[in-house]
Amino acid sequence: MKTVRINEGVELALVDRGSGPPVVLVHGFPLDHTMWDAQIEALVPDYRVIAPDLRGFGRSRQSDAACPPGTTVTMGRFADDLAALLDALGIDKPIVLCGLSMGGYIAMHFQRKYASRLAKLILLDTRSANDTPEMAAGRREMAARVLAEGPDPLVESMMPRLFAAETPKNHPQIVESLRRVMLGNDPKAIVAAALGMAERPDSTGWLPEILCPTLVLVGQWDAISTPDEMQAMAEAIPGARFVEIAGSGHMSTLEKPAEVNAAIRRFLKTPA
Ligand code: MLT
Repeated sequence: MKTVRINEGVELALVDRGSGPPVVLVHGFPLDHTMWDAQIEALVPDYRVIAPDLRGFGRSRQSDAACPPGTTVTMGRFADDLAALLDALGIDKPIVLCGLSMGGYIAMHFQRKYASRLAKLILLDTRSANDTPEMAAGRREMAARVLAEGPDPLVESMMPRLFAAETPKNHPQIVESLRRVMLGNDPKAIVAAALGMAERPDSTGWLPEILCPTLVLVGQWDAISTPDEMQAMAEAIPGARFVEIAGSGHMSTLEKPAEVNAAIRRFLKTPA
């Protein structure tokens, strides 16, 4: 991994491997780049794969000065960080941007703000709708608990909704390693992103304006961003492709890596 200074004293750690058209992988909440390990290996032979740890997460932990406790980081701010990262890396040609869940919220904001920097968009297990007032209130309550108690209560509340029922039985190591990543993240970063998600706008109205080729992919048993909801998103994006991954829950990249890799590779190989 390397570290790049992007702005205001913010440094991002990232995987930057391979050569060829750039593909940027944006992780979900409260995770880090390791949720893309299988996709990185599958794409590196043909692409320049860039997988950052978002501001505050993983190895992009910030000092208290850069990320004071209780700060909000909006999805637009995370998108600005990605644009600044591309600038710092000297990448000015259009990229493929691929985001899962919160990474998808960020990708939709990036598309809105920096459409000319996008060659293709991949939205995995994500939603265009924003939080209902009840969901937003629940997130803020949980953020206050994380600040006081650390990530444990959040992790325990999220774990049961992340995977298909068969995943913990058949692949307990996937569940355990994800739990470790979540518990290891900086509470300040978790709180900042949770508050940012709570105030994110409904981006459903943006979907018809997405003009680059787009793949919408969802796990069959995703309980957080359901196949019905994601199919409706795909129908709203002109010409988008929709793929449902059998037997997967929300964490499709970890639960069904071979199927997800095949869908992504197929989409990337298709001429725009
Ligand atoms: C994620 O996987 O990034 C989260 O489930 C997103 C969310 O909490 O809305």
